[in-house]
Amino acid sequence: MVKVGLFGAGVVGRGVVELVRTQKDRIRQTLGADLEVSGIYVRDTSRPRTDQPELETTDQARVLESADIVVEVMGGIEPARSIIQAAHAAGKPVVSANKMLLSNHLGEFSGPLRYEAAVAAAIPILSSLREGFGAIRATRFEAILNGTTNLILGLMSEGMDYNAALQVAQDKGFAEADPSSDVLGHDSLYKAVLLTHALTGEMPNWSMDAAAGITGVTLDHIRAAEAEGKVVKLIASGDIAASRVSVKPQAVPKEAWVRIQGGRNRISIITDVAGELVWEGPGAGSHETASAVLGDAISLGRTLVLS
Ligand SMILES: NC(=O)c1ccc[n+]([C@@H]2O[C@H](COP(=O)([O-])OP(=O)(O)OC[C@H]3O[C@@H](n4cnc5c(N)ncnc54)[C@H](OP(=O)(O)O)[C@@H]3O)[C@@H](O)[C@H]2O)c1
Repeated sequence: MVKVGLFGAGVVGRGVVELVRTQKDRIRQTLGADLEVSGIYVRDTSRPRTDQPELETTDQARVLESADIVVEVMGGIEPARSIIQAAHAAGKPVVSANKMLLSNHLGEFSGPLRYEAAVAAAIPILSSLREGFGAIRATRFEAILNGTTNLILGLMSEGMDYNAALQVAQDKGFAEADPSSDVLGHDSLYKAVLLTHALTGEMPNWSMDAAAGITGVTLDHIRAAEAEGKVVKLIASGDIAASRVSVKPQAVPKEAWVRIQGGRNRISIITDVAGELVWEGPGAGSHETASAVLGDAISLGRTLVLS
């Protein structure tokens, strides 16, 4: 039996609890043992957050002690950072989906740490880049890594203005009440930093100045792109040799990019000997993100089962 201690019971955390239950047999097959959630750390227990309220507690230490593997899906810097450090100090491996924390503080963590869900959710891009690029080198990448801005730009290309499109994104549950991390390009930049790290093993040189979001995009920009057979997308780019990442709205060829709608992500990586490699798929969502979290937990759990 491998026990998972869950920190955070929001969109992703609830997805983890549900998939552990509904995918029990499949998980046993791939892990070689049963996997169960042993405790769920929540801010308060006044209302149930998951369908296993008996596991919910405000006692961080209890959840940590109960676990073989710690899963951090709270978001933000603190207390997520301290929880990961405490897990490592207790010799426990960690899975996190927290791109903001990891892009800013990855170097501070010293124990086993996996974070596939932090970039492009269900697409196993980080492990592909780390493990599949042994003999080739990436020179640059271009990617759509944020579903909220992709949905807003899609609605604008149908004629809706920015504010109305943002409202629709919020009504559909894509954009948060405070959408700034998405619309200012910060969320995409965090992911571009982690993509670069997966490709090179090193953090790129970056600051928040490298992000330009979509708040300045107008219907005129979108029509001008249309006239050239292009579409405006929020593109995260990486120049690997220069160790540089940036995010900005760009008019890109329709052929490759227009079908990437709503919450879908697309990552195009240019390599030295294998040309262009492309990944596409759901870049957000409860079960989509939880599937990547559990993929990491199973992978770490296999080591525990075998030891
Ligand atoms: N949603 C996605 O599709 C997606 C995709 C990829 C990666 N991620 C990443 O996954 C992480 C979680 O995202 P999410 O969408 O699940 O967020 P969310 O729905 O806001 O859930 C976060 C949960 O953590 C809890 N939490 C936050 N701070 C806490 C604290 N100090 N003490 C106790 N509980 C605390 C929140 O509790 P309250 O309810 O009490 O506030 C909430 O239940 C983030 O790092 C996000 O960037 C999300």
